[in-house]
Amino acid sequence: MRNIANAQLVVSDAINLIHGKNGSGKTTILEALYMIARGRSFRGARAAPVIKSGEKELHLFSEFHAGEITHKIGIRKTTSETEIRLDGQNIKRLSQVAAAIPLQIITPQTYQILDRGPEFRRKFIEWGVFHVEHLYSELLRRYLRALSQRNAALKTNQVMARAWDKELTELGEQINSRRVAYLNLLTTYFEEELIALLGDLQLQVNWKRGWQEDISFAEALEQSFQKDCEKRYTTYGPHRADLEFKVDNIPISQFASRGQQKLVITALSLAQMRVTIQQTGKKPVMLIDDLAAELDRDNRTIVFDRLREMGSQVFLTTTDADLLEGQADKMFHVEHGAVL
Ligand SMILES: Nc1ncnc2c1ncn2[C@@H]1O[C@H](COP(=O)(O)OP(=O)(O)OP(=O)(O)O)[C@@H](O)[C@H]1O
Ligand SMILES: [Mg+2]
Repeated sequence: MRNIANAQLVVSDAINLIHGKNGSGKTTILEALYMIARGRSFRGARAAPVIKSGEKELHLFSEFHAGEITHKIGIRKTTSETEIRLDGQNIKRLSQVAAAIPLQIITPQTYQILDRGPEFRRKFIEWGVFHVEHLYSELLRRYLRALSQRNAALKTNQVMARAWDKELTELGEQINSRRVAYLNLLTTYFEEELIALLGDLQLQVNWKRGWQEDISFAEALEQSFQKDCEKRYTTYGPHRADLEFKVDNIPISQFASRGQQKLVITALSLAQMRVTIQQTGKKPVMLIDDLAAELDRDNRTIVFDRLREMGSQVFLTTTDADLLEGQADKMFHVEHGAVL
């Protein structure tokens, strides 16, 4: 994978620190861990840049202990296909692996969740709902299929578009109520984490479900049918939902510093981990790329104390091995793609 020809890591179930110079291969190790849990890289969707130059494929193998259960996960990736084996079986859907390993990640790009399109924030929420409600991903898949059929009809045969409304509204209402239930669980923890990390920032968080507040989804579809026909797509619905973050009525991406934005996402991640633990008993794995970027010493301490309290397994990278002052349980030194 990338500059790492071959590496085997026996890791701690608590805090693992990966250190080394720029370009040594630290982020690549996190990328491998992420790929084991989610089947793809967090640095772009294409496989080709991840496979080591001159090689045709990459292989990953991991043993993952969840309580008494040990999962074995193997991945083989070429530029055109991905093969995943979970406990000796070939699997098609990645969600089977993802369900076994709840994994969170914080990178130097994480703050972008706040200033990019709503789909990034929806993804974040959806990841959380998925871990507490396994039926959710199936609901969402069915909803998106009905939505794309409706949108296709709006382009070709508008009368037919209405035939999808019943299915769309039933699934859409269910999706929304699961999201709302999840957000209710998340909010209490999120507020606690926010106070710890960003005490004086008066953050307003607004959930936008994707259609008007005072009417049902069916009514929203009814009212907007003419508009949908003109625009040739479905204007309202859970596919347009967003979680809005504002300070003094200004979008947070235009108000808060980059470090503050990163802390908001860190608080959200920690809250999400706490909900997962509370609801499923599974302990999420946390990946933190370049810990020193933006988080000052006090905030690093808060984040660490919290991760220790949760008993979470953590992998973090840094160019500065002294950063944690002996707090790591296991250290890995990376040099030109070799893990020492
Ligand atoms: N497909 C590839 N084949 C071979 N080498 C690659 C490939 N893709 C990237 N590299 C190299 O792999 C190295 C590892 O990069 P990585 O991002 O893991 O470094 P890092 O230790 O996280 O650095 P930094 O401290 O700058 O974040 C880089 O030197 C890069 O040039
Ligand atoms: Mg890096």
